[in-house]
Amino acid sequence: MTQDTSRERPRPDLGEASSALVRVYATEAEASRSGARSFADRALEAVAERGRFTVALSGGDTPRLMYEMLATPELARSIPWDRVHVFWGDDRGVAPDHPRSNFRMAREALLDHVDIPAANVHRIQGELPATEAARLYESELRSVFGGGPALPRFDLIHLGIGGDGHTASLFPGEPSLHESSRWVLDAIDRSHHDEPRVTFTFPVINAARAVEVLVLEPAKADVVHRVLSERGEVDVLPARGIAPTGEHVWLLSTGAARRLASAGQR
Ligand code: 6PG
Repeated sequence: MTQDTSRERPRPDLGEASSALVRVYATEAEASRSGARSFADRALEAVAERGRFTVALSGGDTPRLMYEMLATPELARSIPWDRVHVFWGDDRGVAPDHPRSNFRMAREALLDHVDIPAANVHRIQGELPATEAARLYESELRSVFGGGPALPRFDLIHLGIGGDGHTASLFPGEPSLHESSRWVLDAIDRSHHDEPRVTFTFPVINAARAVEVLVLEPAKADVVHRVLSERGEVDVLPARGIAPTGEHVWLLSTGAARRLASAGQR
């Protein structure tokens, strides 16, 4: 049994609705394990209360270990995968078997190892032009969450952040940061050869019952500090737009938290 070495650190400066709890773990593995355990706990709670668990996964490299831990029998066997609906907060404009596909990474690390029905895996069709993929993905959201005007309310949305403060595929200076009605937009990662992207917008992210942000790399300590501790515009630091009315938790390794005042474990 791994002792939870985290310490919680409320963030009142962003106001009640968006104050984040910051949990700092001694190692990247412990932070990842906490994310995996939280996924399992939230899945059981959601299925018990609402009959299903809706979750949006993050991409990039950071969550791979967390997904691999979630796929271990210790955690996976406790989850009713036939009641779980998996989406992605964003993906790259690539084919599903491309090395940069967030869908491929999650499939390899997690989905191929659990009994989740194919119909419950709702990937972004990155092989299509991004505007069409965004339209189709929003339609799929509506088919699962109901086609009404109410925003989809995910039980859990997992996010990461980039060194420039982006989250999902919401990048600095982009109009998508201020989208207030569309649920899904096409985007461009100008820092990576203008790679096409498809992304949730902040209304969807912030409607979630819980948002968890996992940051492991020590190289991100400065951006973590700027997002969590300084005032600043979402245009400069998009991750400052994460302000869910539900739970808002940051899972950090010691390295990623080293610039936060009074960071540390119990
Ligand atoms: C993506 C992600 C993105 C990611 C950050 C961090 O498609 O890249 O959704 O928002 O979370 O870029 O990526 P790393 O974990 O690879 O640093």
